[in-house]
Amino acid sequence: MSKERAIVVGAGGISGAWFPPLIAEKVRVQAVVDLNLATAQERIAQYELDAEASTDLRAMLDKHQPDFVVDLTVPEAHCAVTCTALRAGCPVLGEKPMASSMAEARRMVQASEESGQLYMVSQSRRWDTKHDQAARVVRGGKIGELTTINCDFFLGVHFGGFRDEMPSPLILDMSIHHFDLARYLTGADPVSVYCQEFNPQGSWYQGDVAASAIFEMTNGVIFAYRGSWCAEGCPTSWNGDWRFIGDRGTLLYDHDQTPCGQVVANHTGFSRKLKDVKIPAERVKHFGMHGALREILAFLRTGKQPQTECHDNIKSLAMVFAAIESNKRGKKVPVKGL
Ligand SMILES: NC(=O)c1ccc[n+]([C@@H]2O[C@H](COP(=O)([O-])OP(=O)(O)OC[C@H]3O[C@@H](n4cnc5c(N)ncnc54)[C@H](O)[C@@H]3O)[C@@H](O)[C@H]2O)c1
Repeated sequence: MSKERAIVVGAGGISGAWFPPLIAEKVRVQAVVDLNLATAQERIAQYELDAEASTDLRAMLDKHQPDFVVDLTVPEAHCAVTCTALRAGCPVLGEKPMASSMAEARRMVQASEESGQLYMVSQSRRWDTKHDQAARVVRGGKIGELTTINCDFFLGVHFGGFRDEMPSPLILDMSIHHFDLARYLTGADPVSVYCQEFNPQGSWYQGDVAASAIFEMTNGVIFAYRGSWCAEGCPTSWNGDWRFIGDRGTLLYDHDQTPCGQVVANHTGFSRKLKDVKIPAERVKHFGMHGALREILAFLRTGKQPQTECHDNIKSLAMVFAAIESNKRGKKVPVKGL
């Protein structure tokens, strides 16, 4: 099979999770671009790539004419890097979050439309077999019509870097994963949000590192989210601990265990008789970044649209910025994507 050719932009921490699947899928990495040439060179040496190190994306695009670009830069650089690649006629697979503002994200969607090139975002937690199982139960109507989503995320995490100084570290840096998962697991989209961010007593963060948010989703579904990175003891999973309630029953997914649930078995009695929900078999073979990479390769080979194509993914980013806006304004606000 012919090898797709790619340029990787951004050779920092997360690139270590991308080169192994790129190599496993036999993608030919033609160039690694970073603001810091030595960083690009180090990654090329580490993974023994036959690739050129550069600080100049435009020159590399002109020279190599890749099949796609992988954007692993910091969120503030996503818009410039991705738009440059799209306008050069290249599809882009970019790291989350899509952008550092909604205005930038909308410019990226526009660049994708104007160039006619695909832009998809890697939301690594979508490619996980337990998430796939939970999604098949909830989306498949096995607990009936969905009414309620709860997600708790509580960890005590001492990063000691930029997250300790930034405003809204939880919502901006972490909750995008949970907000996108809420959409992926249920198929519901955001309508409005009321959010209160806060910084708990004794916090080692400067910005508000905890939040409670209530989203209204499509079909009147209510998504209640509680999170903190400043909660010592009894941690939840990094994926969050979830409860989905439908009009026939409930599904639980917590501590990364296989989801489990119960539905009503008969329609009499003070408390109805319950039976266990049948959980579908595991089927996801390629997790995280590897799953995202396979979706762009499938798109290049067959034209099949990836699930996190930018017109869809901007809805997850909009949940982040609407939550922050609600906190600032002290009231419920609409969640506006495009
Ligand atoms: N999916 C996940 O679970 C996950 C986990 C960690 C990070 N991420 C995301 O990955 C992205 C990168 O994070 P990281 O931890 O690797 O950051 P990092 O700071 O370690 O690396 C970013 C690299 O990008 C380079 N860079 C910045 N601007 C550039 C530009 N304009 N052109 C070329 N290179 C540029 C920097 O020099 C640096 O080497 C972020 O969007 C982050 O949110 C995702």
